Amino acid sequence: MKDTKTKKRDTWASRIGIIMAVAGSAIGLGNFLRFPAKAASNGGGAFLIPYFISLVLLGIPLMWIEWTLGRYGGGFEHGTAPGIFHSVWRKNRFIKYFGVIGIFGPIVIFTFYTYIESWTLAYSFFALSGKYAGLADKTAMHSFLRGFQGLENNQYFSGLGTAYFFFLITFALNIGVIYHGIRGGIERLCKIAMPLLFIFALILFVRVITLGAPDPTKPAWNISNGFGFLWNPDFSALKSAKVWLEAAGQIFFTLSVGIGVILTYASYLSKGDDVVLSGLTAASINEVTEVILGGSIIIPAAFIFFGPADIKSIATAGVFDLGFVTMPLVLNKLPFAQIFGFCWFFLLFLAGITSSVSLAQPAIAFLEDEFDVDRKHAVWIFGVVSFILCQAPVFFLKNGVVDELDFWGGTFFLVVFATVETILFAWVFGMENAWDEIHKGADMMVPKIYKFIIKYVTPLFLFFILGMWFWQEWLPIILMKKVSPADRIYVLATRVGLILMFIVLAVMVKIAWRRRRLRGGKAV
Ligand code: PFF
Repeated sequence: MKDTKTKKRDTWASRIGIIMAVAGSAIGLGNFLRFPAKAASNGGGAFLIPYFISLVLLGIPLMWIEWTLGRYGGGFEHGTAPGIFHSVWRKNRFIKYFGVIGIFGPIVIFTFYTYIESWTLAYSFFALSGKYAGLADKTAMHSFLRGFQGLENNQYFSGLGTAYFFFLITFALNIGVIYHGIRGGIERLCKIAMPLLFIFALILFVRVITLGAPDPTKPAWNISNGFGFLWNPDFSALKSAKVWLEAAGQIFFTLSVGIGVILTYASYLSKGDDVVLSGLTAASINEVTEVILGGSIIIPAAFIFFGPADIKSIATAGVFDLGFVTMPLVLNKLPFAQIFGFCWFFLLFLAGITSSVSLAQPAIAFLEDEFDVDRKHAVWIFGVVSFILCQAPVFFLKNGVVDELDFWGGTFFLVVFATVETILFAWVFGMENAWDEIHKGADMMVPKIYKFIIKYVTPLFLFFILGMWFWQEWLPIILMKKVSPADRIYVLATRVGLILMFIVLAVMVKIAWRRRRLRGGKAV
């Protein structure tokens, strides 16, 4: 029977539009904060070895898999993983429930990512208005951050009011963008925000590499030693399984693969649109931005101003300290500090918003495609539900809720989901079919070796990562060994919340499929 639905799915207006949107999703806080921090604390230059191996064996194959499966699913009017997986493996009744991760994961990341993004907007204003301009040491800048985050009341802030205000603005901006749809909202945003982002990143890049050695009494605190600190390889790090896991995790996170958002973006392609060159282009833009620009700003700049003795502890102090304490301190020491401070934080904001809108889209697409809700209503529903969910990271940041959400949404489920996708693609869809499907409308051939890589190497690598994870970390994580006793109740509550959310989404999938069956069903 024919589908009763008459409305057409949204599409991208141009090829450059979808490339910018995927690159926008990929280039985020991960490129400018997470990557340099990980590299500096996991072997420096040696980190690039597992990083690039993971890029070639996991990142690029998953990029192609998600672009291809997304376009394929879009042809059946499915923009999210439950429907897409079901279209690939129609005989299997359970596969659609694995697809729930492709809606669940992005929502989980969205809840805390948007909050952190709102800090970057707030700090852009603080930089311009000189609110932190007088702070010259780590202790002061650190209490400024803690006051802002509502972790302590001090002379800078009392309560969460300011942070909440900027959170509301950021949240509203995100909702405003997705309200305007794929081409009118996301594509338009990315076409403006991405070039701007590159301009800001280049300004900071040039500023940092031309710093030389600003303090004549300390000639060794110079830019080349700064790069040396970050990139001189410590090959002994490669013996640690943790370094390999961190590198693979960074590849997933930075490319936004293994979570469902690229599937959704690609579902708005048309049948004959190229995925091979476009996917590779988006991934390459992300990599250049991460390794060259991301790797050249924060750590080398911090080295120049804090010197070799302090840089180690700075680099390992965590991404928030790096971005919101170290970097403003460094920039405060330069002429035109307010302008450079603004460049830094607004760069992060642009990187953040082009990523967070991609995290919202799977939930919207799910409501539109599987429940025939129109876009405006879907955005309303998403807005209300995600707003409620966001309160947890906002109010319970100090209790480890963000770390917990980041672990499940931003690390663990990525690997699980990627494993399911790869097996579906290479083994259920079948490598021959898959190869044909990838090359429909393609502007270049995928190197033949990838037939072998996607079929054997990528899944084995993923199993290896999952195995290592179970072996090394499963028990301490399940038992909350690294969580302080006072916070355990919050972490537990987060876990219960996540399980409930997963169940609700799974029930929604069940209802959607039952509705379709009762209606005679659209072709799946
Ligand atoms: N790739 C983004 C970053 O590097 O910050 C984060 C991200 C966005 C991860 C979207 C996953 C995702 F689906």
